[in-house]
Amino acid sequence: MRYPLPFVAVVRRVVSARTVSRLLAIGLVFSSPAGVLLAQRAPFEAPKGVVVSASLTASEVGADILRRGGNAVDAAVATGLALTVTYPRAGNIGGGGFLVLRLEDGRTTAIDFRERAPAAAAADMYLDASGQVVPGRSTLGHLAAGVPGTVAGLALALERYGSGKFSWSDLVEPARKLAAEGIPVTPGLARDLAAGEGIFERFPESRRVFQRNGRLYQAGERWIQPELGRTFARLQTHGPREFYEGETAALLADDMARNGGLITRDDLRAYRPVEREVLRGSYRGHEIITMPPPSSGGIALLQMLAMLEPHALGDLGHNSAARIHLVTEVMRRAFRDRAEYLGDPDFVRVPVAGLTDPAYARGLMKHFSTERATPSAGLAAGTPFGLQPATPPAAGNESSETTHYSIVDAAGNAVSVTYTLNGLFGCGVTVPGAGFLLNNEMDDFTSKVGVRNMFGLLQGAANAIAPGKRPLSSMTPTIVLRDGRLFMVTGSPGGPTIITTTLHVITHVIDDAMSLTQAVDAPRFHHQWMPDIIRVEPFLTSRDTAVMLEAKGHTLALQRLYANSPEASARSWGDAASILIDSKSGLRLGAPDLRSADAGAAGH
Ligand code: DON
Repeated sequence: MRYPLPFVAVVRRVVSARTVSRLLAIGLVFSSPAGVLLAQRAPFEAPKGVVVSASLTASEVGADILRRGGNAVDAAVATGLALTVTYPRAGNIGGGGFLVLRLEDGRTTAIDFRERAPAAAAADMYLDASGQVVPGRSTLGHLAAGVPGTVAGLALALERYGSGKFSWSDLVEPARKLAAEGIPVTPGLARDLAAGEGIFERFPESRRVFQRNGRLYQAGERWIQPELGRTFARLQTHGPREFYEGETAALLADDMARNGGLITRDDLRAYRPVEREVLRGSYRGHEIITMPPPSSGGIALLQMLAMLEPHALGDLGHNSAARIHLVTEVMRRAFRDRAEYLGDPDFVRVPVAGLTDPAYARGLMKHFSTERATPSAGLAAGTPFGLQPATPPAAGNESSETTHYSIVDAAGNAVSVTYTLNGLFGCGVTVPGAGFLLNNEMDDFTSKVGVRNMFGLLQGAANAIAPGKRPLSSMTPTIVLRDGRLFMVTGSPGGPTIITTTLHVITHVIDDAMSLTQAVDAPRFHHQWMPDIIRVEPFLTSRDTAVMLEAKGHTLALQRLYANSPEASARSWGDAASILIDSKSGLRLGAPDLRSADAGAAGH
């Protein structure tokens, strides 16, 4: 049999030739998914409430609030703040995110606490004099940070939807205690901090905080974050506005002023989260409740589900060539629209109703062929944004610098939160004296039309930088109802792969009747229109299936793969911390993602 040369050639570009040959030789690169799927692991089960997050310690913080009579929103506040301490690569008070809520009485809402561009930001701020993007300017250092929204967002959620049994200060306390008294460094945390070494080298305050006297923390050591503990104490004493108007704001703004950053005290004072109406869609009798713009995730998810609905997805066979082909074509079309139409709805008109109209979405599939891939370049009719032709895959390393957590309480209130620093340890800057990292969310804007951002995304003018604007996001916190009742809570980190990971988890449960753990564990693939490539996790499918996909005109690229790495996320992506309600027993089933070293569920 002929070897699938073109496919191997692509893989070779992504990992070293020696590694690939070795893995091909032992049949590891693509193998039947059956082995993965048959080995079903048990979910975490709880009769009343459950919290699933990237950090078992943070989940336990949330579960403790639930046990003491708090509701899912109370627990979401405590868990989110605790993640800042226990999962510093993404858990944050220096970033932003989205919270989608469905109350047991059927009310729904979304809290948008996305970062905003500072008042002094400008559309061309990352370009040099000749109009070229300056590498690193939108990703590293003070200029890359947007005005953080996490503290204000969590506080707003608590004020409007908390149980009233816990004060803000009560819910900050577990995070303060963890920071002040220290946490044991887990092997996962030690690896995270080691991965940040190159970044911390450039920022002495970060090095001081995230290393012990210039050396890496080792698993088993205790790590105390005294400045962060004091920041939480100030937030307890003076309330959440302290972050925006008090000493914390002053520490942040002064550091910006000293280092050429743009965020001022006025920017901080002016920051407000926004409560928005959720997006709703349906899929095979289920109701999907998800995040509206400035996330692109909800729109893209609803579009993809609407495109898939006419097809008997489950009958195509799990990860068959026909299935991967169909789902890829659907992903391609949704990401094409993302680039063209989406941006901050407070600044640009986003045609949400039109884009999520199932008839429109199905129209996108008019020229779908079961035999041939639609070239992405062809979809970009007239290349309206001056797009460059697709180049081979960017390294595509979406490890978890964002994090998602899901919560359901005893009453059946559900909270789905995804929040982020954007890149690994954000922009690398720790606010001196305050102990927390700042985001590099400004890179989510379009630095220049036609130039990819750090996730390889091509974006349009709708997402151009403007003062006070929120950058377009892919974060997709989602809640699914079945027969009008709470069924699933899901979402993930992973840059643009967030949207496709969320799609995979939902369709695996609904179309494939997988258990929640199977749906979360199943290997994933991803297409984002540009580059015109299907990225695959190891063990997605067989090599002969890959050959069939190539024959249809697809190019596949294997996610970076480190043989024998203890870190699953080095060769996979996403962390779909999800919950499903068993319809018969009412049990809350929690599925932390296997890919995430410290992930865990806790409940009662
Ligand atoms: O909002 C977004 O879409 C990105 N800032 C998310 C970044 C991300 O998920 C990175 N890590 N996994």
